[in-house]
Amino acid sequence: MAEGAKDFLNKPFEQAEALNRIYNILDVRLMHNKIRDHNKELEGKVQERTRDIEETRLDVIRRLGRAAEYKDNETGFHVIRMSKYCEQLALKAGMSPEKVSVILNASPMHDVGKIGIPDAVLLKPGKLDADEWEIMKSHSIIGGEILSEGDSDLMRMAQTVALTHHENYDGSGYPNGLAGEEIPVEGRITAICDVFDALLSDRPYKKAWTFDEAVGFMREQSGIKFDPELLELFLGITDKIMEIKERWSDK
Ligand SMILES: [Fe+2]
Ligand SMILES: [Fe+2]
Repeated sequence: MAEGAKDFLNKPFEQAEALNRIYNILDVRLMHNKIRDHNKELEGKVQERTRDIEETRLDVIRRLGRAAEYKDNETGFHVIRMSKYCEQLALKAGMSPEKVSVILNASPMHDVGKIGIPDAVLLKPGKLDADEWEIMKSHSIIGGEILSEGDSDLMRMAQTVALTHHENYDGSGYPNGLAGEEIPVEGRITAICDVFDALLSDRPYKKAWTFDEAVGFMREQSGIKFDPELLELFLGITDKIMEIKERWSDK
């Protein structure tokens, strides 16, 4: 029995006892299999539910993004492009595949707070005055609030991205003037990808810059606006970035 037998019989067998023992052992075995199958089934159901929840979260967050696009002047495929740049940069930076996929889905939310900015400011054709600029800057805080108290990695990262995508590496950004590694890495990644795509895009107030002009500006801002290490990584994958840019061109 120490070697794993469940039971034994002494010879000579007594027929009734032998049969009883065999029935009992089979009974235990069948019960065991039943429990195992039941557990497997439950596990499958839990996985299915988890997938449903993930999909619902994604769906909700995408719809929120679409709602924001109705107000924002940064329409077109900007959010798709910048989120795909974020994915590439996060991969390059060695993030886990799970985290990479979260940043891909969370980064399109970076400007969701613009929902809360009055049209007179958001859509003003000319330059903003100081007060208007303060209102405009509050989109980061509003976005953080809209996305606050989420109970998933996706929602938490979306909140972080909304709140920190205008922080600068040297501490001169907003809303909290965080510097260096105080800025969560997803915020530093988003800042690079968001600005780069904005530079290469036509906006009501400016024409699209050329690739060289954009790269020149990014380099100038290394250590000022942008995390120098992440920026180097980003500038090392511009082939991929430009492929995405072409693939999701607004034209
Ligand atoms: Fe923004
Ligand atoms: Fe943006």
